[in-house]
Amino acid sequence: MSKFPSDKPVLVTCGLPYANGKAHVGHLRTYIPADIFVRALKKQGQEVTFVCGSDTHGTPIVVNAEQLNITPKELVRKYHKHFDDTFKDMNVNFDAFGTTDDPENYNRTTDIVNKLIENGYTYPKTIEIAYCPECDRSLPDRYVEGTCPYCGETARGDECDQGCEKHLEPGELKEPKCTICGGAAEYRKQEHYFFKLSEFKDFLLEHLEHMEGTSNARNYAIGWVKKELIDWCITRNLEWGVKFPGHDDLVVYVWVDAPIGYIAFTEEWAKENNEDWEKFWKGDGRIIHFIGGDITYHHCVFWPAMLKGAGYSQPWGVVASGMVKIENKKFSKSRGYVVWVGEDYLDHGFHPDLLRYYLTSYTSHTKELNFSWKVFQEKINTELVAVFGNFLYRTLLFTHKNFGEIPEGEIDREVLDKITDTITKVNKPMGEYEFKKAVDSAMALASYGNVYFQSNEPWKLIKKDKAACGKVVANCAQIAKALILLFEPVLPQKMEDAWKQIGMSSDVHAATYSDATVLVNSGTTLPKPTILFEKIEDDKTEEMETISNKRVAEAIAKESGTKEKEGAVKKMEEEIEIETITTEEITFDDFSKLDIRIGTIVTAEPVKKSNKLMRLEVDIGEDSPRQLVAGIKETHDPEQIIGRQVVVLANLKPAKLCGVESRGMVLAGDTEGAVLLMPEEEVAPGTRVR
Ligand code: 2FM
Ligand code: ZN
Repeated sequence: MSKFPSDKPVLVTCGLPYANGKAHVGHLRTYIPADIFVRALKKQGQEVTFVCGSDTHGTPIVVNAEQLNITPKELVRKYHKHFDDTFKDMNVNFDAFGTTDDPENYNRTTDIVNKLIENGYTYPKTIEIAYCPECDRSLPDRYVEGTCPYCGETARGDECDQGCEKHLEPGELKEPKCTICGGAAEYRKQEHYFFKLSEFKDFLLEHLEHMEGTSNARNYAIGWVKKELIDWCITRNLEWGVKFPGHDDLVVYVWVDAPIGYIAFTEEWAKENNEDWEKFWKGDGRIIHFIGGDITYHHCVFWPAMLKGAGYSQPWGVVASGMVKIENKKFSKSRGYVVWVGEDYLDHGFHPDLLRYYLTSYTSHTKELNFSWKVFQEKINTELVAVFGNFLYRTLLFTHKNFGEIPEGEIDREVLDKITDTITKVNKPMGEYEFKKAVDSAMALASYGNVYFQSNEPWKLIKKDKAACGKVVANCAQIAKALILLFEPVLPQKMEDAWKQIGMSSDVHAATYSDATVLVNSGTTLPKPTILFEKIEDDKTEEMETISNKRVAEAIAKESGTKEKEGAVKKMEEEIEIETITTEEITFDDFSKLDIRIGTIVTAEPVKKSNKLMRLEVDIGEDSPRQLVAGIKETHDPEQIIGRQVVVLANLKPAKLCGVESRGMVLAGDTEGAVLLMPEEEVAPGTRVR
């Protein structure tokens, strides 16, 4: 028996994107199928809520913000907006899209952690924490790199990302190195708090046995649980994040407050819609998590144990997607194997629905997906354009030209049966997270429509028997109506348009599959149709391939140019994207708070352990010169800038960059390389800029 629709409400969530980088095609592999699933459930009459949000805490965000000399809050605000906009652009329609920095999440996290403490599932333990003597700081998670104790590959503090993919606990990494300065780190003793994951073995085995979703998630998780469960250190030495109750110097590990975001966003949705969040998290509503396969452990082992320990309901299902490759290469921003959703796709005028179709129909959801512009072009041209688009357009154009409206005509039993059969063939795999099979079944109905049109030869019938022709056309219109409903989850925006083109005035998103066999209304005026899917020309594909190749070549050139320099620093700096932060209007009062002055560079020397930074001493009219750190090492020769006048923001909160304190900021044009601002003529150091 099909599991959907069910009388239990369904909550679908998507793995939260980290708010510290731009959206790429890899991200969409989780969000688009989840959105399609939600829309398809609604089409079956299922009550369903869809929530997500930005993951805003954790070490990488703090590291990035520090490198950019902005606060973590500023960084995550920018990327949260970016993701929110991107999802809207891609027609991914969340009922709530919050952030883990929302008050709801602080409250819910504190509540859950307190429950775990009360229920005896946490304990303090003194452990060895990586510490960088050079930077004089503790090094949680990605602040430290070294060798994986299990497989010997290079790994980062919390995960063997390049080898066995195991989660690593603080202190486990061998030969730890600081990723900020590249120097050797040492282990120092510190008290941290642990979650007794090991006590949940029996619970997890039982839970996973019945867990729905994709078998890859379930099988991996069962394997891990059977092998060994290690208690998790759930605190970190950071200032940014949700404080561990009673300890102002510790925050909870990001993997504690991130999944709790799922609950917080459900609460936000409930508040907004006068709904009840507890029907999912304390009741028997079905919670289904859509995630990337790389975070299966967190969702299938750690998260259900945490929920159980705090007395909350557990996920009903976990749907894990396969990996995304770009032109057959492992996805890597620093190597150039990346396709950005904005600049590489939407900004080129590609319609969002085409990518939705491609990502879903390419291969089974749990398999590896290799993004290729050629295959993208081929699938769009041979399937959406030549089969589905062709059927819709020829039906609508023929009807418009010869009848001007949907003509009278009995709908064949065979056609109605075919539609009903297709609905089953779409629903069944959809309920089993086999999105490709569902899409292929819908496309098979479009092929059937083409055969129906072709074999009945309405262009001949119109000349000799208009009524018989009308019947063929009415049947085609019925098939078109069913197709539009069946494709709406995948191509929501295009199908909104198509729905209007077949003369429907209702909301296609609210219509259900049961409407597919409701007979089309004869007499409905049909306007002149427009072509829904345009062919992608070879030129365009070549242009896109050239862009990809250029990016990879640039990444290789950059890589070889910096090879000798400290690896860790290089990697981190290259992956940071400094973009213009969307400007908000400020008042003159706001502006007057900025202490901007002209200064004269007195000394300049490269920061040894950084590829980008230069340490400057700048005379800004004070008793002694100011120490400032600027990202100009790649573009400026220290000797040549001594004596030069620059513009300095003097009252910026001091920050440490690669261990060197910067008490202000040297202003520069943010182009390919930094272009220093300078006054038109020499003025006294300390002159205010207004
Ligand atoms: O791996 C990631 O991208 C995480 N930001 C996913 C978090 S999902 C959830 F548990 F919050
Ligand atoms: Zn260091």
